[in-house]
Amino acid sequence: MELPYAESWKIKMIEPIRRSTRQEREQWLKEAHYNVFQLRAEQVYIDLLTDSGTGAMSDRQWAEMMLGDESYAGATSFFKLEATIKQLMGFDYVIPTHQGRAAENVLFSLLVKEGNIIPGNAHFDTTKGHIESRHAVAIDVTTADARDTQREVLFKGNVDLERLETILRENPGNVPFMVLTVTNNTVGGQPVSMANIKATCELCHRYGVPVVMDSARFAENAYFIKTREEGYADRSIKEIVREMYQQADAATMSCKKDAIVNIGGFIATRNKDWFEGAKLFCIPFEGYVTYGGLAGRDLNAIAQGLDENTEFDMLETRIKQVQYLASLLDQYGIPYQRPAGGHAIFVDADKILTHVPKEEFPAQTLTCELYLEAGIRGCEIGYMLADRDPVTHENRFNGLDLLRLAIPRRVYTDNHMKVIAAALKNVYDRRETITRGVAIEWEAPLMRHFTVQLRRL
Ligand code: F0G
Repeated sequence: MELPYAESWKIKMIEPIRRSTRQEREQWLKEAHYNVFQLRAEQVYIDLLTDSGTGAMSDRQWAEMMLGDESYAGATSFFKLEATIKQLMGFDYVIPTHQGRAAENVLFSLLVKEGNIIPGNAHFDTTKGHIESRHAVAIDVTTADARDTQREVLFKGNVDLERLETILRENPGNVPFMVLTVTNNTVGGQPVSMANIKATCELCHRYGVPVVMDSARFAENAYFIKTREEGYADRSIKEIVREMYQQADAATMSCKKDAIVNIGGFIATRNKDWFEGAKLFCIPFEGYVTYGGLAGRDLNAIAQGLDENTEFDMLETRIKQVQYLASLLDQYGIPYQRPAGGHAIFVDADKILTHVPKEEFPAQTLTCELYLEAGIRGCEIGYMLADRDPVTHENRFNGLDLLRLAIPRRVYTDNHMKVIAAALKNVYDRRETITRGVAIEWEAPLMRHFTVQLRRL
């Protein structure tokens, strides 16, 4: 008999979690204004709000924490991180930052000017926020495949090269860089192929436009290249990563994802001018350039995390768990962005809550229903997160309306996946009875989904 697949690690430390009653959850969600960001973590049983900063560090990362050098300037921990990034991605210059959006803030302070156009394959919301707050325009150039959740396409995160070229051609001198996000979080944790990464870099460079890779889940992207793209099956993850960055000009990184730490980020580049320029913004925003808002022990843990999470076994365990959850949803007929993404399942709320009109936010409603059902906290990646158009102030209803179930790395077991799938099935089975959604009572002008206050209709 062939042995089944199992995790490539065992558990050394545990943290208790508790169930609650439906009555308690009704009360808590009401107090949270039907916005799961406003819940207390202890009111949550299984937390799938994000895979960011929620992973479990390894014994080796904890050992590295003890070796952190807390010197203000020139700490050995910085040089350890710099060497790791240089070896992995091939970038000479590294600036640590306290998380991914801080890397964006520092680099974009240097590069983004009012009126600029910055194309990207579905910019993450903080990335878009850092562009729009500088009165520049973020334009989505993801392939049309990504908009059809039921189409099985292996590299749904890819850039639409024709659309990108049109933008580059029509805006000479006004595109300071292009953002290439790997994996593409917003459209479902979908990977970008090596061929598309290379073609994007070549196209941009032909127009004299540099490429910044938003790298939060770069290792998961490399796993998909190895397992799905012709010619890469026999290459190591580290070799693939090196090739992914060969033509890129810079990376911004949220280490809270694929470096499996609770906090941290960095900018890495081969462009000395960008490095020198960005340093000037790092110091006032983040701190001196060899610590960038982090403790020495954090820098050590990031270096270790980057090294171990670019090994095949670690990534296989990770992706297979997400795919296991997807296989359960398949059994129950629940629609999600296909194929399963690297870090999450994106449930297609529009296809489930068909009686809830767009104006009443189906995915936000489904998020509330799943919490009420079993204390599981997902996250709306849909019309609420899309914010309003900065010019017309109309809600942006033209994208997908999804409930993201983000799976923290090395935290939950496959039994938890079974509970998640069963809870979602219960909601799915009573979907015809859910006819009303939620209405906005109060919202912030930018990134409203974190703080929005809602009323149940
Ligand atoms: N880029 C991508 C693709 C991201 O997914 C995130 C964060 C960031 C940048 C910003 O990094 O949080 O360290 O400041 N994504 C998290 C999420 C928050 O839940 O998807 P950060």
